[in-house]
Amino acid sequence: MGKVYLEGQFQPIESAKISVLDRGFLFGDGVYEVIPVYGKKLFRLTEHLQRLENSLAEVRITNPHTRETWATLLTQLIEQNEGEDQSLYLQVTRGIAPRDHHFPDQSTPTLFMMSNPLVGTPETTLQSGIAAVTEIDSRWSRCNIKSINLLANVLHRQHAMDQGAKESILIRDGKVTEGAASNLFIVLQGETITPPKSPHLLPGVTRDLVLELAEQHQLPWREAAIPEQALQQAEEIWVTSSTKEIVPVTTLNQQPVGDGKPGPIALQLHQHLQTFKQQFRSN
Ligand code: PDD
Repeated sequence: MGKVYLEGQFQPIESAKISVLDRGFLFGDGVYEVIPVYGKKLFRLTEHLQRLENSLAEVRITNPHTRETWATLLTQLIEQNEGEDQSLYLQVTRGIAPRDHHFPDQSTPTLFMMSNPLVGTPETTLQSGIAAVTEIDSRWSRCNIKSINLLANVLHRQHAMDQGAKESILIRDGKVTEGAASNLFIVLQGETITPPKSPHLLPGVTRDLVLELAEQHQLPWREAAIPEQALQQAEEIWVTSSTKEIVPVTTLNQQPVGDGKPGPIALQLHQHLQTFKQQFRSN
């Protein structure tokens, strides 16, 4: 059994305890990151640390570490856990203080980190794709912050699961934002489209990499608002995240997407991503 990190120490998960007065526990007052590890190496570390810095600045929590220290601690976390591939979770909360909404005069941020096995998306799921449903986006208007307060996301994901689907595709003011825990892409007339970054969606690290790969391999793409109705015309729909990579959506609200099979562009990009990861492992 591997170790987690809390209060400056690597320790067994059973001994890692936080105060009930931690503002993460009472208010969801904190932010997090999920960083994939391939071949024991941190994937897209700079991008994840940049987003963490943005999240912390947005909620005015002091960043407890420099980029160098983050890299050292995360590398130690990898070593403390088994597996070539891991999914690292880290969260920083505003810390412990008597319960009151306003910021405490003094508090030390609480840092917790753990490693989970990086399972990825099974080959069978890639071949069949997943079912998704649409739902009105019930989240706040600062979704660019990777906040640990995920209640709306939890309810959205559960709504999908309750209908036998795997992801909820969220609609705000008639336009698609993203999935409950993923970014969203469609293909229309051969062109890959994803919504532009805004406070209504999380700037996904995988999203940016997929766009980079599309550019490198001369696949036409653009960032543009996606009206809800465009989902019905889409030849392909797929969602992306650090833990699941690129997942084709083949059924939307019980209707087939395109011909009901994972589309060629999603599969090409999936292949390019595998090659990219392979090169990263061997570098
Ligand atoms: N979630 N949008 C939301 C709302 C997310 O929660 C996530 C990822 C993404 C994709 O971001 P990235 O490509 O950087 O992983 C988009 C993580 C994996 C999670 O909460 O477990």
